[in-house]
Amino acid sequence: MLVNLKTILKYAAEQERAIGAFNVYNLESILAVAQASQELNQPVILSFGEGYLSHAPIEVIATIVRKICAPSDIPVVLHLDHAKEFSTVMRAIRCGFTSVMYDGSYLPLEQNIANTKKIVEIAHAVGVSVEGELGYMNNEDGSCEPGFEMEKGYTSVSAAVQYANGTGIDALAVAIGNAHGIYKGIPELDFDRLGEISAAISVPVVLHGCSGIPDAAIKKAVSLGVRKINVNTEISTGAVRAAREFLVDHTEKNTRFETMLKASRQTMFETVKNYINMLGEK
Ligand code: 13P
Repeated sequence: MLVNLKTILKYAAEQERAIGAFNVYNLESILAVAQASQELNQPVILSFGEGYLSHAPIEVIATIVRKICAPSDIPVVLHLDHAKEFSTVMRAIRCGFTSVMYDGSYLPLEQNIANTKKIVEIAHAVGVSVEGELGYMNNEDGSCEPGFEMEKGYTSVSAAVQYANGTGIDALAVAIGNAHGIYKGIPELDFDRLGEISAAISVPVVLHGCSGIPDAAIKKAVSLGVRKINVNTEISTGAVRAAREFLVDHTEKNTRFETMLKASRQTMFETVKNYINMLGEK
């Protein structure tokens, strides 16, 4: 059953837990996440990023997710991850996404508020939820701009209040020491800041860049109000590792592509299952 982000995060808040948002880019990744959710009977968020438009048409992704997840009783969100373009957000809404993330975090606050507010008005009119982002998380490869001090990009409490109140968003992604991609060391999250943000705004907090954050730190973040955790790198790199191992073991000329994909899918399924189980532990 497809539901919007607001609905699933309300359930998460009642249960004092977080829901995993896992990136999907093709049939295998969708099947892996859906299968893990169905096997464990747990809600899940399938995230398709604007950056994947060159891999797969968003309309096809929406059709596959709907076909696989809609008949089940388990609540599932079809979410657009990190969209910077207004047109991508509109495309996602038109093809049945139940949630969109507008990422205007690179813009001055006033501009981010104005853009997000416009998207909230449109999305809410058709029952679609909106996640916004404030603060600077580093690049997908884990690198920062030269000379940039990460703390300078952390989300401030006052900006979070201004942004949440000024836009009407349903969830706020924060920068508190988290980053996309592979961390260079063990990440240290600013839990004091997270607690203050969470107490100051009335919408749930989202933690991006969870691959590589120790389970204990994720659990602490959840205890402070994080209700959605985003995971991609660990799943994606695990799928490649599985394919590589498969190819080492299968050097015959007639090795089949579809058989290799099965190995990748199995690894993605297990990683997602581990995250869902971890989020269910108290
Ligand atoms: P990771 O790739 O670091 O797990 O982050 C995923 C993410 O935050 C997607 O928005």
